[in-house]
Amino acid sequence: MDRNRISRIAHTGHPIAAPLSDQAVTDVLKQALNSTSAQARLLDLGCGGGEWLLRALEQHPGAAGVGVDVSEPAVAHARAEADRRGLAQRLRIEQEDAASFRSEGEFDVVFAVGVSHVFGGLLPTLTAARKHLAAGGRVVLGDGFWESPPSAEGLEILGTMDDLTGLVGSVTEAGWTPVYGHVSSRTELDAYEWAWTGALAAWGLQRRGTPEGQEALAVSAEHRQGWLAGYRSSFGFVTLVVC
Ligand SMILES: C[S@@+](CC[C@H](N)C(=O)[O-])C[C@H]1O[C@@H](n2cnc3c(N)ncnc32)[C@H](O)[C@@H]1O
Repeated sequence: MDRNRISRIAHTGHPIAAPLSDQAVTDVLKQALNSTSAQARLLDLGCGGGEWLLRALEQHPGAAGVGVDVSEPAVAHARAEADRRGLAQRLRIEQEDAASFRSEGEFDVVFAVGVSHVFGGLLPTLTAARKHLAAGGRVVLGDGFWESPPSAEGLEILGTMDDLTGLVGSVTEAGWTPVYGHVSSRTELDAYEWAWTGALAAWGLQRRGTPEGQEALAVSAEHRQGWLAGYRSSFGFVTLVVC
């Protein structure tokens, strides 16, 4: 199965594709949008199923958003959800590479959560976000870090990352000021991984005996093993609102 389709299925029960609780998402959105006008313009680079924008638009009836993602199933889901939730008039979803998306620097808030691989790292992600940002705008940046030195297996799965101090230090040294931050708790990290592997496993069980069902079960089991044995004990995730 296509990786994008697997990801879509895996996010059925956790539409934000990052380890944040619903309350944490609400808190981050409040901090990101509290200094914008009622007509805030929002951009999500690598928007996935569009959930950050959808919730922001629900909380801010005058706001409008643009989401960009390469994944066909994610884009289709975001558009369908916008229709279902009565937000389609205020949300445009583009299926394209976020790294080559062009704008006139008109956005009050730019979201870049879990997408540093798209831009080649955290600082290039901020540089890309800056191009789209209006004066005085804010960036919501979410990324992983190593809470403690990873095992060889964890390092192989997730690669080299800073610790939290190094991550925040590199952001501030690049000239950004954090005005809010949320470090995901163990409960949030576990909830995300169980939701991801669990939704995929449940989907596979419903199709047990078919090649797709077997594949979904195998991918879920492999991911769960990599998480539990590889990176669960060392991985952390932080979401920053920076100016
Ligand atoms: C970890 S998910 C995060 C989704 C979303 N930001 C969220 O927090 O819910 C990463 C997303 O980046 C998207 N992506 C990967 N490469 C991309 C690219 N070159 N341009 C745009 N999106 C991309 C994936 O399709 C996926 O939806």
